Amino acid sequence: MRHAPIKPALFQRNRERLRRLLLPNSLVVVNANDLLPTNADGLLPMVPNSDLFYLTGIEQEETILVMAPDATDERQREILFLRRPNPQLETWEGHKLTREEAQALSGIEEIRWLDEFPTVFHQLMCEVEHVYLNSNEHRRAVIEVQTRDARFIRQCQERYPLHSYHRLARLMHALRVVKSREEIDLIKKACRITRQGFLRAARKIRPGLKEMEIEAEFAHEFTRQGARFAYPPIIAAGRNSCVLHYIRNDAVCRKGEVVLLDVGACYANYNADLTRTLPVNGRFTRRQRQVYEAVLRVQRAMIRACVPGTLHKDWQKQAEALIQEELLRLGLLKPRDIRRQDPRNPALKRYFMHGLGHPLGLDVHDVGFMSEPFAPGWVLTVEPGIYIPEEGFGVRLENDVLVTEKEPVDLMADIPIEPDEIEELMSAARRTRSR
Ligand code: GLY
Ligand code: MN
Ligand code: MN
Repeated sequence: MRHAPIKPALFQRNRERLRRLLLPNSLVVVNANDLLPTNADGLLPMVPNSDLFYLTGIEQEETILVMAPDATDERQREILFLRRPNPQLETWEGHKLTREEAQALSGIEEIRWLDEFPTVFHQLMCEVEHVYLNSNEHRRAVIEVQTRDARFIRQCQERYPLHSYHRLARLMHALRVVKSREEIDLIKKACRITRQGFLRAARKIRPGLKEMEIEAEFAHEFTRQGARFAYPPIIAAGRNSCVLHYIRNDAVCRKGEVVLLDVGACYANYNADLTRTLPVNGRFTRRQRQVYEAVLRVQRAMIRACVPGTLHKDWQKQAEALIQEELLRLGLLKPRDIRRQDPRNPALKRYFMHGLGHPLGLDVHDVGFMSEPFAPGWVLTVEPGIYIPEEGFGVRLENDVLVTEKEPVDLMADIPIEPDEIEELMSAARRTRSR
């Protein structure tokens, strides 16, 4: 594991919080993610299952967590099933967790090998009434392959059709959206690494550089700090800055263009999500600066609005109202465009067509019920943008913000964002380069 050890108390507390939400006489099963195939015998690097990590701190493939808080045999109330280590596995794949290591990571006493799972599971199923199984219920998930959890649900319901089955995802969303102090510290660490990657990359930007060379600067910083990209980085120069999910990163940055960087580090499975927009030659044009300042004003106002009680849909509406004012001021919309607009597709959507922000945590677009009001412990991204393809550029600015009882805390407050700060950073780098 590349990250510093996390105290098992975090995962023990998470399990306790889950136990409190279960019906009496329940069983919970959480599976690791599959290793996904590519071509021939290739596999994608495994992405740990966020729910399994949240409850155990375990990242090893094929792991299964079983919780049965009311089981008669006390040892069966919390069990972790792991791959049984053997010399051949050791030779090909390297070290696998021992019982003691898994106990130390998760705080779970009862560690069993996977070949024991069917027998133990059957014993427990004969005792319990309610069974909570996991599924991906993210609002925007598009899933075309059958997940390990989905296979397990099918097998389980086929073999035990008369139990009362429940959706674990609902409970996990409710728990995970509120971050504990330890989780906030890990998100802060991901933000710090992201900041360092950004500073390193920003100092390199100049006309003639390829977008992928900027990507490489982030990769260097993230990898040396034990982190990885939280999502495929978006390094979008010129007109590419208007493509919301641009990930080709193969164009050359040219003088007079902006370059939009939407990049975050993932550290210990906790994510950061940053966007900055920079002038390639180190100075914004008058027009770029006008648009930039408009987006920055909206971002500042919407960060202030990250307070308990706010509803996501009202927050989005408020941002759209502010963007509309800015678009009028920028001459991109005329009052008559607004008078004549279809309310279901308002005119401002032409220039700001995405959501203002999303919860952030173990997933970049983290789980949580967006119909519920913001509450202390939520971490949200705030990412307004104005995209003007006809002028060949777009600006997005994205910070990560913690909702508290008092003022919102901007976790990226120390990452340069004022246009003067950005220009100063780039001109200092230019002076160093030319020395
Ligand atoms: N980087 C993805 C997002 O900003 O939501
Ligand atoms: Mn982003
Ligand atoms: Mn985001």
